[in-house]
Amino acid sequence: METLVKKIDEKKQGNVLSLKNQKRGTKKLYIESYGCQMNFSDSEIVASILNKENYSTTKDISEADLVFVNTCSIREKAEQTVRKRLKVYNSIKKSVNPDMVVGVLGCMAERLKEKFLDEEKLVDLVVGPDAYRDLPNLIKEVEDGRKAVNVILSKEETYADIKPVRMSGNGVTAFVSITRGCDNMCTFCVVPYTRGRERSRNPLSILKECQELYNSGYREVTLLGQNVDSYLWYGGGPKIRFKRATKEQKENAVNFANLLRMVAKINNKLRIRFSTSNPQDMTEDVIDAMSENKNICNYIHLPVQSGSTRILELMNRGYNREEYINLIDRIKNKIPDCAISMDMITGFCTETENDHKQTIELMKYVKYDYGYMFKYSERPNTAAAKKFDDDIAEEIKQRRLVEIINLQQKQSLENNKLRIGKTFEVLIEGYSKRSKQHFYGRTTHNTVVVFKKENCKIGDYVNVKISDCTAGTLKGQIV
Ligand code: SAH
Ligand code: F3S
Repeated sequence: METLVKKIDEKKQGNVLSLKNQKRGTKKLYIESYGCQMNFSDSEIVASILNKENYSTTKDISEADLVFVNTCSIREKAEQTVRKRLKVYNSIKKSVNPDMVVGVLGCMAERLKEKFLDEEKLVDLVVGPDAYRDLPNLIKEVEDGRKAVNVILSKEETYADIKPVRMSGNGVTAFVSITRGCDNMCTFCVVPYTRGRERSRNPLSILKECQELYNSGYREVTLLGQNVDSYLWYGGGPKIRFKRATKEQKENAVNFANLLRMVAKINNKLRIRFSTSNPQDMTEDVIDAMSENKNICNYIHLPVQSGSTRILELMNRGYNREEYINLIDRIKNKIPDCAISMDMITGFCTETENDHKQTIELMKYVKYDYGYMFKYSERPNTAAAKKFDDDIAEEIKQRRLVEIINLQQKQSLENNKLRIGKTFEVLIEGYSKRSKQHFYGRTTHNTVVVFKKENCKIGDYVNVKISDCTAGTLKGQIV
């Protein structure tokens, strides 16, 4: 599913895991995920850990022995969504299954810790993102009649050896996590507190997972991390400790560009995407690795957050407007056809009309292909919450948000119109929502294309000539 402008906020209802490549267990796990792709990937790890404990996943909450919600704390609204879902679980528990065990996983669990048990009486388990291996013990505690909490953050945990139970996805595209945590400390962001220190996963386990995915028919992997460009493997442990690594560890270290090249070699029919890139950490070598390898997609998600240097400084983003523009220029110089998307925040503390205007000007310069745009939402205990006033009125945040969303919509349409008449290689991901006679897939630029089925199947690469478009989708015919 691709929405061009993911208008702020989390989906009303999260994604639910279902049976796929797991052994059938006698107990049933229902798991709903909210927030970033990393959470979805984590839910697959949780399903895998519990599969060994005789649980298989179900999409039907009423038959579940165990109900998990994997939560997001990034904006207040994301947390409100979870609170509402907990009310729904509560009523199911009362009316259908009084023995149902309810657990809260992920960032909200980490942020609120034991407090969650006081605030939400039906919750039995609170488990932070680094404690999923402990789930079997925690569930036993609950079965013995106690509430259970584990919110210990780790400096090493990457779940490298755990083969995720693949989501009820399309069998063609998969997420593969490569780093956990974040050390960047953007002042608005709660992630460094909820997901802990940045650490990288063993490249051999990443390669193994990607190879296995390819062997079982997958044709695209998205390498995931809060800040993928900062990937650095030197034998394990937090990135900040790299300074103290031995000479040998330093010489053999694997960075993100090396990792990309290694994954690209698995098979030229395996597409590679990655997310998220942080402008301050993206190296020239990564751009080179992309331009050298056709199967690394020409698409970069490069969150900017604001077009104003003054605001970027307050956000502690580690780059200014000029440096960001310079990076865009270097990317376009080496990969002229590279699609770029962004995240943007309106109404950050002290943001003036002039700052906002600079955001608009930057958008006009870059001509992003997509955008994920948000109103600033103050998060407790972040540096911004401690140091600055959340002083921009809601109506102003909203008005600025609408302005940038409208502009992005217009630019996306213009970019897509330029693709009419051209032919693109498309990886087929599934049936179009509107018709069983049509498939949808994506181009290297991550743009969705809808076209008549002809004689091909899901997982095939086809060349599609574009004849029409909307801001979010291209339409065409196989040639
Ligand atoms: N590097 C991460 C960023 C996670 S948060 C990644 O993997 O994508 C995703 C986006 O949410 C951020 O880029 C930012 O635009 C937005 N965001 C984060 N904290 C926010 C806040 N307090 N208010 C509004 N938007 C926020
Ligand atoms: Fe958050 Fe900034 Fe890291 S947005 S996830 S602290 S790069």
